[in-house]
Amino acid sequence: MIRAALILLINLILLRGIADAQSRDIEKKVDSLLGIMTLQEKLGQLNQLGGISDSATPGRTSEEQVKMVRQGRVGSFLNVTGAAETERLQRVAVKETRLGIPLLFGCDVIHGFKTIFPIPLAEASTWNPELIERAEHIAAVEASAGGIHWTFAPMVDIARDPRWGRIAEGSGEDPFLGSVMAAAKVRGFQGKSILEQGSIIACAKHFAAYGGAEAGKDYNTVDMSERTLREIYLPPYKAAVDAGVWTLMSAFNEIGGVPCSGNQWLLTNVLRNEWGFKGFVVSDFESVAELMKHGVASTRTDAGILGLCAGVDMDMVDAIYVNELVGAVRSQRLSEEMVNQAVRRVLRVKFAYGLFSAPYRNNDTLKEQTIMRAPEHLALARTVAQQSIILLKNTKNVLPLGKTTKTVALIGPFAGNENRRELIGSWAWVEKAEEVVSVIDGIKEKVSPGTKILYAKGCEAVADSGVEIEKAVRIARQADVVVAVLGEESGMSGEAASRSELNLPGKQQELLEAICRIGKPVVLVIFNGRPLTISWAAENVDAIVEAWFPGVEAGNALADILFGDVNPSGKLPVTFPRSVGQIPLYYNHKNTGRPCNDSDSFTSRYIDIPNTPLYPFGFGLSYTTFAYTNLTVSSPRFKQGQNIHIAVDVQNTGKLSGDEVVQLYIQDEVASVTRPVKELKGFKKISLNAGEKKTIDLTVTPDDLSFYNLEMKKIVEPGIFKIFVGGSSIDAISSQFTLE
Ligand code: NOJ
Repeated sequence: MIRAALILLINLILLRGIADAQSRDIEKKVDSLLGIMTLQEKLGQLNQLGGISDSATPGRTSEEQVKMVRQGRVGSFLNVTGAAETERLQRVAVKETRLGIPLLFGCDVIHGFKTIFPIPLAEASTWNPELIERAEHIAAVEASAGGIHWTFAPMVDIARDPRWGRIAEGSGEDPFLGSVMAAAKVRGFQGKSILEQGSIIACAKHFAAYGGAEAGKDYNTVDMSERTLREIYLPPYKAAVDAGVWTLMSAFNEIGGVPCSGNQWLLTNVLRNEWGFKGFVVSDFESVAELMKHGVASTRTDAGILGLCAGVDMDMVDAIYVNELVGAVRSQRLSEEMVNQAVRRVLRVKFAYGLFSAPYRNNDTLKEQTIMRAPEHLALARTVAQQSIILLKNTKNVLPLGKTTKTVALIGPFAGNENRRELIGSWAWVEKAEEVVSVIDGIKEKVSPGTKILYAKGCEAVADSGVEIEKAVRIARQADVVVAVLGEESGMSGEAASRSELNLPGKQQELLEAICRIGKPVVLVIFNGRPLTISWAAENVDAIVEAWFPGVEAGNALADILFGDVNPSGKLPVTFPRSVGQIPLYYNHKNTGRPCNDSDSFTSRYIDIPNTPLYPFGFGLSYTTFAYTNLTVSSPRFKQGQNIHIAVDVQNTGKLSGDEVVQLYIQDEVASVTRPVKELKGFKKISLNAGEKKTIDLTVTPDDLSFYNLEMKKIVEPGIFKIFVGGSSIDAISSQFTLE
């Protein structure tokens, strides 16, 4: 035992030694290359051009752009893909420029490349970081076969406002879950070693607090206390940095008067000096130029100087650095050393990725043709989709449906084949709609040969035209059970897709109410990129299945859940409000001096709606039930610095085997600053057979108990800590311990 530990330690030290030596070697190479570069060549490395895309030919480049590459004025391309096209450009950079510095090809590989996985919010709903790590690795394997070196993912922005369309692209509202997912995704993309075939460079974005946009309106102002920024919004970026992410993207938004892409405190003091980040920062699309619109720079040169000096190393598409900063250095408004610093960081990443020794590492056209949508990739996409689907309601055990049900009616704009493309969500493209398994096809594949499947669209997803509610009702009447397949179109969430209402769009609510009036059992399936306000459905339909946008295996995964081949295990990574007026609504809120008390008006509440959410964070049902007992803490008292071991018995009390996410929350009862009523600090996804009971161990580390004090120092204060363990943020048993 001791010998094994010793060998492990020696190996770790050796590996560390090798890594240190490698990085010293890289630094030497960077310095010698930097020493022979002209100022123009240096600024070229900081310049990222955007490929020209249209629906027919994505990611082309113009002759002018190729000329710029030849002149050494381009360091990277955005969204130019394909093993052949990227190789063509790489050859120009390597063979035809004075120094032969290779290009870096970046692309938005957000939830899969050709095998489209569920949207990130759905991936977070799996509460299964190991699975998501594998999914990102598949995305990296496919993307790298398509000539890509670098993805603009993961998006790790915390979002407490579902009006914000980009909530779909992140892991939801919680810093702990968000951090776990951020680290898993970085590991998945970057692999065990970034040099390995199939690894790509990750980019944590959008630094920082882009999800804090006022009123959930995309690109809007962000204003929050440093405490909220550090405790709620920054942890997932920090987790990505700790997991070794090589790049970050600076956000569009300002925080408290300082735009992120010109924010030295954020990009230098926090990111590099506090966190020790060694990679480079790329701006978001034109966010350096937008410093002018923010009103903190009056010329392109001013914007460039501000961005570069703040810590934005690479300028995405606005070509300010490459065009304006030579003059700024010559006129001594900008020191060349600032430029060198940014170039050093970019070259460091290129060396670390092995591009100087293997510039065509991702240019195998044969591999590109054979690896995309490989059967094992699609199988994993189906598993992720199965685990991401959340059962929100299931009265009278309507679900799972019997495979021999005589007649099933599928009603709604997302049930049939014509809208199947809509099931993949934003930031995803499929060449042919048939690459997406539709709901009707998935269900037909699942049921017995004798089952009749009827279908009626009922209405369009959004438009008021084409309403055929009566026809849908007629068809629904013929069925034993009705599955209403409703929700949002893909483009209603994602970038520039904020909504002021979160109801079912168009005539869908009308359709749902008409179907429910028939009196048949109704299962509502929703496809959506954000929580929707579905209070009416929560009261009136028999079962609700939150499917998010499940990706190319949508119909198969949904059928697996609806017909009970897979027991649902997804849990909400975000709170579902009852109405838009409750937003922002999140589980880890403060108690206030007047916590809500329904029998006392002068407490923090509304007069027209309950304070509680429609569905709370961490919630999700199963076809079985779980009971939590015997919550024990390893000791009633602890000293600072000790780990706290918690155990709980979880039993499957139903008749089917199932998976459960055991969640651990803490509350620091009294502290020098106010603390949230609950904070997630651990979770484990477990499997239990019917009747089986397991003791689950969870650990709370000293860091889990820490917070930022009045001096903005991270500390742990003595006192009583409550702990809650259960299957959601509200269904939990509790205990406590004292920290001395
Ligand atoms: C703008 C988006 O905000 C960002 O997430 C994306 O990576 C870039 N465009 C590049 O497409």
